[in-house]
Amino acid sequence: MIKEKIVSPFVKTLVNSNALDKIEDNMMPLKRLMAYYRCAIMEVETKFNVLNEEFSLEYDRNPIETIKTRLKSTESIIKKLVRRNFPLTVDSIEANLNDIAGVRVVCSFLEDIYLLADCLLQQDDVKLIQVKDYIKNPKPNGYRSLHLIIEIPIFLKDEKKDMRVEVQLRTIAMDFWASLDHKLSYKKDIPEEEAKLLRQELLECAQISADLDVRMGEIKNRIVNKENT
Ligand code: GTP
Ligand code: MG
Repeated sequence: MIKEKIVSPFVKTLVNSNALDKIEDNMMPLKRLMAYYRCAIMEVETKFNVLNEEFSLEYDRNPIETIKTRLKSTESIIKKLVRRNFPLTVDSIEANLNDIAGVRVVCSFLEDIYLLADCLLQQDDVKLIQVKDYIKNPKPNGYRSLHLIIEIPIFLKDEKKDMRVEVQLRTIAMDFWASLDHKLSYKKDIPEEEAKLLRQELLECAQISADLDVRMGEIKNRIVNKENT
């Protein structure tokens, strides 16, 4: 009975796919790769901190409210490789997954998102791999954010290694909305009818929050313009 409890669906996936044996063989390279991704996160976070510092000197305000970083867990990596039918190898992680390293930048104002993204992409060690602008083209559920997949070098003892990082830029309002949406998507025990209503309400809130972002930006600009006259 106890055994049944600890054998989670995840463990079953692992056993069925023989992933455990494969991971054992790859333990050191996997640890190393994850360390490289941690370094890449530090690099990107520092780049944003530097930009924030400079903007606060120049304009007397911080465009960045918070920076959140995350390294995808080994469990999530394996699940994603299995789900997408990619080989369960360390090389495959690097080649096929773009979101092992994640940096989320939360700004107060919409315009800061594009300002920061442009500044980041102008840097000569940053290579843009992919852009998904869910602000100009929100997802059908109302989700908004600017997603960039970038490649940046990390400098190791004897080599330079390009690492991919997923950068998500959003406003506080977008972040607030996304965390509630995330809660709903993980709640599997809500009856479908009710879940549908909640999704509809969330979609309406997404519109309200998009309007709020625009209005708050306009008010801020009017205040700044007053200060400058
Ligand atoms: P993943 O396989 O989930 O990485 O998706 P993808 O490769 O299609 O990438 P996409 O850029 O669309 O989304 C990547 C990430 O953005 C997700 O892991 C979430 O963090 C966030 N995201 C995307 N869509 C939504 C959404 O509808 N709601 C919320 N809350 N977050 C989302
Ligand atoms: Mg992802």
